[in-house]
Amino acid sequence: MARIAQRVQNLPPYLFVEISRRIAEQREKGVRVISFGIGDPDLPTHPHILEALHDHTDVPANHRYPETEGLPELRQAIAAWMQQRFEVNLDPANEIVPLIGAKEGIANTALCFIDPGDIALVPDPAYPVYAIGTMFAGGESHYLPLTAENDWLPDLEAVPADIRERARVLWINYPNNPTGATAEIEFFQRAAQFGLDHDIAVLHDNAYCDVTYDDYQAPAYLQAADASAAGIEYFSLSKTFNMTGWRIGWACGNAEMVDALLRVKSNIDSGIPQAIQQMAIAALRDEDDQSTIAIAANNRILQNRRDKVVAALEAIGLEALHPRASLYVWAKIPEGQSSADFAARLIEEQGVVVTPGNGYGPSGEGYIRLSLTLPDNEVDEGVNRIAAFTSS
Ligand SMILES: Cc1ncc(COP(=O)(O)O)c(C=O)c1O
Repeated sequence: MARIAQRVQNLPPYLFVEISRRIAEQREKGVRVISFGIGDPDLPTHPHILEALHDHTDVPANHRYPETEGLPELRQAIAAWMQQRFEVNLDPANEIVPLIGAKEGIANTALCFIDPGDIALVPDPAYPVYAIGTMFAGGESHYLPLTAENDWLPDLEAVPADIRERARVLWINYPNNPTGATAEIEFFQRAAQFGLDHDIAVLHDNAYCDVTYDDYQAPAYLQAADASAAGIEYFSLSKTFNMTGWRIGWACGNAEMVDALLRVKSNIDSGIPQAIQQMAIAALRDEDDQSTIAIAANNRILQNRRDKVVAALEAIGLEALHPRASLYVWAKIPEGQSSADFAARLIEEQGVVVTPGNGYGPSGEGYIRLSLTLPDNEVDEGVNRIAAFTSS
């Protein structure tokens, strides 16, 4: 029997595999499970974007290998969008690299910066791919706890000098998964300065920048002074345009870092199917404001769900964050229970799935995450069941 490499053996079970197993178990018992688990929009891709796909499937050039660097029109559409949305100027020729979803770019970025023994500064809790990518590259993650006391922002000053010396990257993510916390440009400025002071690449994952509520506008890391000198930023069409299934996003900013990522990627993948790039072009160009209208309508639906979920959690005595952005509600469970036990009890007693916070890192213990990506009727059913749950 061939030996499976240590890096694979070292992998924790992917968070949602365990949850899927529990869902299957309940379904077998005939329970109609309501899942606030994975953050995958239930709403369809906006029609004008699908139209662009239909218009480009018959084009023979789109049946061949795409270029890793993407269509020039896509990079131009991204640059124009970054200018319009954030007033950030980017050179489409060398400051943008399209990605097969932000996840792919995040994982491959570790190969650009991390040599064996190097350290990545990783928020805790966080989207798991920052730490997993680091491990694949032979590096180690040093966790920066995100807590209510520090407004869910990492305390960069608290990073010990010996760790700082060995650190090559700092991952940050606002609007944040899993906490729903947001950050302002002033924090991004401090992060950029920290990166420049210590030769650490600042990597900001902005996958949720347009999933926002209550008129909140999320900033970009690249709006901060010197941000581009220190790092790059990741964007995704997945959540903004209900496009998780199409796999497209981009990284942009520092030209040297973008080039490193492009070089890694060109040795691993062969780019994004071109008809899908055309979907992204239609989404970002937004010629008839159809994207703008669709995003606003989407966010109204999500905001309504957020309000219902937060109210239900508070009604059973949980302290929930009231997020201004992201697809998630992060809630503190009563003292004396583990996140995993609480989540297991909720699924067993009410058939309601939530994600245990410790799946996002040790500081997530004591919390659960609820995603807002299930149809309204299921949200209503779910909040009724939560209301019937004895939390302590
Ligand atoms: C913080 C964060 N970054 C990136 C991604 C992945 O986005 P994509 O679908 O573009 O790969 C997710 C998906 O859940 C996420 O939560």
